Amino acid sequence: PAPGWTTRADVVVVGSGIAGLTAALRIHAADPSLHLLVVTKDVLNAGSTQWAQGGIAAALGPGDTPGQHEHDTLVAGAGACDVEAVRVLVTEGPDAVRELIALGTQFDHHPDGELSLTREGGHLRDRIAHAGGDATGAEIQRALIAAVERAPEIEVIQHALAVDLLRAADGGVAGLTLHVLGEGQHDGVGAVHCRAVVLASGGLGQVFSQSTNPSVATGDGMALAMRAGARLRDLEFVQFHPTVMWLGPESQGQQPLISEAVRGEGAFLVDFGGARFMQGEHELADLAPRDVVAKAITRRMIETGKPHMWLDARHLGDEFWARRFPTILGVCREHGVDPVTELIPVAPAQHYASGGVATDLWGRTSVPGLYATGEVACSGVHGANRLASNSLLEGLVFSRRIADVLPGELRAWADPVTDERREGLVSGERRAEMQDVMTSRVGVLRQADGITEALAVLGSLDHGDAEVGTAAWETTNLLTVSTALAEAAALRTETRGSHWREDFPDRDDSRAGHVDSWLEADGTV
Ligand code: SIN
Repeated sequence: PAPGWTTRADVVVVGSGIAGLTAALRIHAADPSLHLLVVTKDVLNAGSTQWAQGGIAAALGPGDTPGQHEHDTLVAGAGACDVEAVRVLVTEGPDAVRELIALGTQFDHHPDGELSLTREGGHLRDRIAHAGGDATGAEIQRALIAAVERAPEIEVIQHALAVDLLRAADGGVAGLTLHVLGEGQHDGVGAVHCRAVVLASGGLGQVFSQSTNPSVATGDGMALAMRAGARLRDLEFVQFHPTVMWLGPESQGQQPLISEAVRGEGAFLVDFGGARFMQGEHELADLAPRDVVAKAITRRMIETGKPHMWLDARHLGDEFWARRFPTILGVCREHGVDPVTELIPVAPAQHYASGGVATDLWGRTSVPGLYATGEVACSGVHGANRLASNSLLEGLVFSRRIADVLPGELRAWADPVTDERREGLVSGERRAEMQDVMTSRVGVLRQADGITEALAVLGSLDHGDAEVGTAAWETTNLLTVSTALAEAAALRTETRGSHWREDFPDRDDSRAGHVDSWLEADGTV
């Protein structure tokens, strides 16, 4: 629809988690004369950062080095990481975390004052900084929001869904359309005329029926970027977290995460007969990389015909549970399980999109003036399987990098060209159908027939004339990213990292390259 209002800003940041708010704060610090606007689909802390439990990884501990962090990241990434991007992540990581501390983030410390660092799957060193025991994301989000509030020059519009990029005649950024639900003068569909857009809008968890992601994770930024002509990369590499609390066969939407840090502190997986099935699977047993553990659980579920496995953390004891994992303890008890005396039912569920909008080492996408950072982006650091607790770090490090270059390369103001694409939105009522087929056919286990079936179902959900609103925008975005994801999964005829093909069970290094996704002029993926 035609915009009902217009406004201007030099730079628009889309998203308000660790990536978005870091980008806004750092760009503001780099050039306070720029008019900066942060837009976020819900309220500032509604995104995935708020939910992060385990922590943020960086080589900060005695005996650890960026080189060792690089090694562990590359091993987890299963031959699909961009080594240069990983090197940037691990070498700039420690300073970036120190900056977060200087900003006011209260990480947990030992009684002697040393930063408390723990371990998660795939890490050979203790290098995960955490806060509030298992509420790391919430503390980082709190500190970042407080910092943004100390900089009132940064304009914020909440309840603002970024709909589409407005493009100039050269294909670059000229602005952005928004759908705002009730924010004073900016209400309904409007347009922001701007010179750069930083996408930091998070992941695509709601493509699947069960995810650890909050309900806002509907792939909006990835779909927007595709419609604007940007290239996406590695979409088939979707990470399924091994230990998500199993709430019964009917449970849908956001599911409770049981952090890997619980295994890092000594918990272990058992089957219904009490056997510790991770022993013998991998030298790191219960702390093997995430894809290895998720696959072992899935395999054991299939072999035994059970809908979940169990996590045994009873030996950690009452006092340790309450101090180290207060959030998880509360959530388990809310769902009727006391982890101090009982086993926790767990099964893998969607957790993280390792792929996204392809960027260079400075967050630049293939569209001039469009940058991407955090889960929406594919900087190349995660490869086929993200190493635990590298995601908060990626948002932090690459947003700092965007702020280093963006003010110096801002585009001139440009008029948007007319958008010739046909209109049409998918009804929100079709969302469950899409999620069902993506979960059963393009989920943790994939094969050609299933992916073809999923693509047929997605093809039948063609753009219609649904009423304009958040549900229809989100479902349309979910359809775009689901289709690209399923196409990428079909093309990768090998098993690598989190991409598990039953019909191609081995890793095939002749297929190690990337799968890119983009939209053709006629709207096909
Ligand atoms: C966790 O706490 O297990 C999640 C950490 C992550 O996804 O990096």
